Amino acid sequence: MSNFAALRLIFVSWVFQKGLTALIKTQHIVLAAVGEDSSLSCQLMQPKDVLQVTWQKSLPEGMKDVACYSKHFGPGVNDGFQGKVDLEAAGLQNCSIVIRNLTEQDEGCYHCLFNTYPEGALTGTTCLQIYELHEPILHVGESNSAEEALVSCSATGRPAPTVTLTVPHYNSTSVTNTNGTVTVTATARLPDESTQVGCAARVLSAPQKEVFVMIPEVKQSPAGDLTSIIVVSVILACVCVCVAAVIVFLRRRRHQNGVSHGDAEKTKTPQKTTKDPHEIQTPLMKNENELRQRTSSVKKEKKNFTTSCLKVKKTLF
Ligand SMILES: *[C@@H]1O[C@H](CO)[C@@H](O)[C@H](O)[C@H]1NC(C)=O
Ligand SMILES: *[C@@H]1O[C@H](CO)[C@@H](O)[C@H](O)[C@H]1NC(C)=O
Ligand SMILES: *[C@@H]1O[C@H](CO)[C@@H](O)[C@H](O)[C@H]1NC(C)=O
Ligand SMILES: *[C@@H]1O[C@H](CO)[C@@H](O)[C@H](O)[C@H]1NC(C)=O
Repeated sequence: MSNFAALRLIFVSWVFQKGLTALIKTQHIVLAAVGEDSSLSCQLMQPKDVLQVTWQKSLPEGMKDVACYSKHFGPGVNDGFQGKVDLEAAGLQNCSIVIRNLTEQDEGCYHCLFNTYPEGALTGTTCLQIYELHEPILHVGESNSAEEALVSCSATGRPAPTVTLTVPHYNSTSVTNTNGTVTVTATARLPDESTQVGCAARVLSAPQKEVFVMIPEVKQSPAGDLTSIIVVSVILACVCVCVAAVIVFLRRRRHQNGVSHGDAEKTKTPQKTTKDPHEIQTPLMKNENELRQRTSSVKKEKKNFTTSCLKVKKTLF
């Protein structure tokens, strides 16, 4: 770009004139954002007899006076720059200007001239580089193909910003806007395990702008719903089994009570006639058989109960 060529030319001329300009302390390049104020300063490092300090702007058609401070007339801002430029720390050894509310048109190189007697003009040069960078816009959404999420981040700036995402692989596309800014969009698939995603936008050496987004719970909610369904089902199943177990226990106790009464009645009779041991065994075996039958019927009931529980559960969901 022509600006870059101009910067190079100025750098070369700065090196060439170093012997003279070493007397003047100034910043060679000032980077500032659109809308900001920027201060440009020049300082004469050796005391000299200065008649006037002049700030000029380098334009394609030539130098244009911006502001000056003269020994006789004091400070003054030229017509084309009033309201735009203010003299700050105006003096004959130290002269700085502030350019307000920067726009792209303020970009360029500015010279400070110390008109001294008898050496003549001592010149320092500062180049103002204007950038524009808007807050990046980060969006996390589902891709239309699968359930995996897509993350995209857009940033608009001038010159074209560098947009980086905190995910491993992403693609960048850029669109040039009518006002000369460039919108760069980085897109990536969101890794399954990520809980936060960040985006940074950078222009030149200016401070980068960052934005972070927590991955919304919405994305994990289908899994969450599933686990809650499973938990509720397990609890329901446990409750069913417990209820069944209690019922079985109560029934068995009632039966056992009944059996023990019967035993007591029956054992009375054989105790009287304890002649034949076979006679005693038969009622006991009978009882055992009865018990077995009862427990099996209880088991059946338990089975029926759990299956009906499962049915209830199915109808619940
Ligand atoms: C000149 O300006 C610089 C920076 O603004 C400041 O540090 C310095 O003290 C000033 N010198 C004089 C003599 O005003
Ligand atoms: C700064 O400049 C812009 C564009 O030239 C203008 O719209 C805005 O009102 C200005 N702001 C101030 C505070 O002067
Ligand atoms: C330039 O255009 C972009 C996109 O249209 C917009 O966001 C930005 O504010 C514009 N910049 C200026 C300085 O108007
Ligand atoms: C990036 O671009 C390449 C080729 O254009 C494509 O194959 C790939 O799927 C893209 N990746 C993403 C995350 O969009």
